[in-house]
Amino acid sequence: MSKVASIFDLECLARERLPGVVFDYIHGGSEQQLTVQRNLDDMRALALRQHSLRDVSHRDTRVTMAGDPARIPLALGPTGLAGLTWANGECEAARAAVDFGVPFCLSTCSINSIEDVAEAINQPFWFQLYLMKDHKVNASLMRRAHDANCSALVLTIDLHTQGKRWADEKHGLAVPPRLTPANIMQMVGHPRWLANMAGSKRYTFGNFEHEIKEAGSIGSLSKWIEEQFDPSFDVNTARRVRATWQRKLILKGVMNPDDARTAIDIGADAIIVSNHGGRQLDGAPSSISVLPEIVDAVGDRIEVLFDGGIRTGGDIVKAIGLGAHACLSGRAWLYGLAARGREGVTCALTLLEQELQDCMLLTGLDNLQRIEPGVVTAQPPLGR
Ligand code: FNR
Repeated sequence: MSKVASIFDLECLARERLPGVVFDYIHGGSEQQLTVQRNLDDMRALALRQHSLRDVSHRDTRVTMAGDPARIPLALGPTGLAGLTWANGECEAARAAVDFGVPFCLSTCSINSIEDVAEAINQPFWFQLYLMKDHKVNASLMRRAHDANCSALVLTIDLHTQGKRWADEKHGLAVPPRLTPANIMQMVGHPRWLANMAGSKRYTFGNFEHEIKEAGSIGSLSKWIEEQFDPSFDVNTARRVRATWQRKLILKGVMNPDDARTAIDIGADAIIVSNHGGRQLDGAPSSISVLPEIVDAVGDRIEVLFDGGIRTGGDIVKAIGLGAHACLSGRAWLYGLAARGREGVTCALTLLEQELQDCMLLTGLDNLQRIEPGVVTAQPPLGR
């Protein structure tokens, strides 16, 4: 097995192992991918300014995220179709998260169902909710998440329609992937993936198996989303969710101070500053660039979580240095899962933790919750 030194190695392994239709889905973003690139570029453009005359032999990375303990300030964020990268992928990732000691969030659009994950880990986890036009389905998902002992509901607010992902459209992405001649060629060309997927419990959305059976099939992913998801979703809908869900509520997809203040107003426990990893509004600013403004607007009235572009432990320090309480990751853990299943997710988490520790040692930080201003800065212009 080749040595993995970074998340970028896991990305390469994922690219090698997956058929194009699946890799392009996990890797890509919407339209021209401007926002995907901004998330990465803006994160990298930040500088870390060190204090070198400090004793950093004892470092503390532990936090609580929406009330749940985390060994490092990072949760596995919700990603749809993870179970198409590795058989029973969401259960495997959830097991890795529990063993490592970070929260796991299951997507509405997962392959394993809420109940599969509950049975696999027998511990609380987070459930991410997309609101459907059919209110009975929403109520049922919330009830199922409650019964499965989910400790937090992550309500995603940025999917009134699905961002157009050109690669997915060209592949005709469906769930399960459609057996077109091109897709069959790709699948046969990736025998390790094919053999592993043969052991999967499910091949379609686990949380909607009943509805999909009734409808026959879901056709293309984007068409299904257009038909099912609710574009009239607004602040009143979010209030109704708050009234129904008694445990922790996290609003995901906050990109401006107004929405952040509204989240406080409706009684959410946390927000996630996120542009959906550049998969929704193409042209949106990077999530790291709007983070300071949002933190300024809400102060400590709500827990501010962050995602978008986390690929190294240093990126976690940058987000926390700019005011985030903690972070979530999407692609970093997915690349691990796609490369090596549960072991790959553990590998991703271990790499991020080691890099986080190194970054703390080299910047002179013993506690991430006390990063003083000026540690994370824009790269200073060349002066004379
Ligand atoms: C996502 N994301 C996402 N978000 C969400 O609320 N529900 C979902 O079902 C999904 N599905 C999904 C699939 C894939 C393949 C990716 C890559 C992402 C967005 C995700 O939770 C997170 O916001 C971004 O992934 C963060 O950016 P990075 O870490 O991928 O750069």
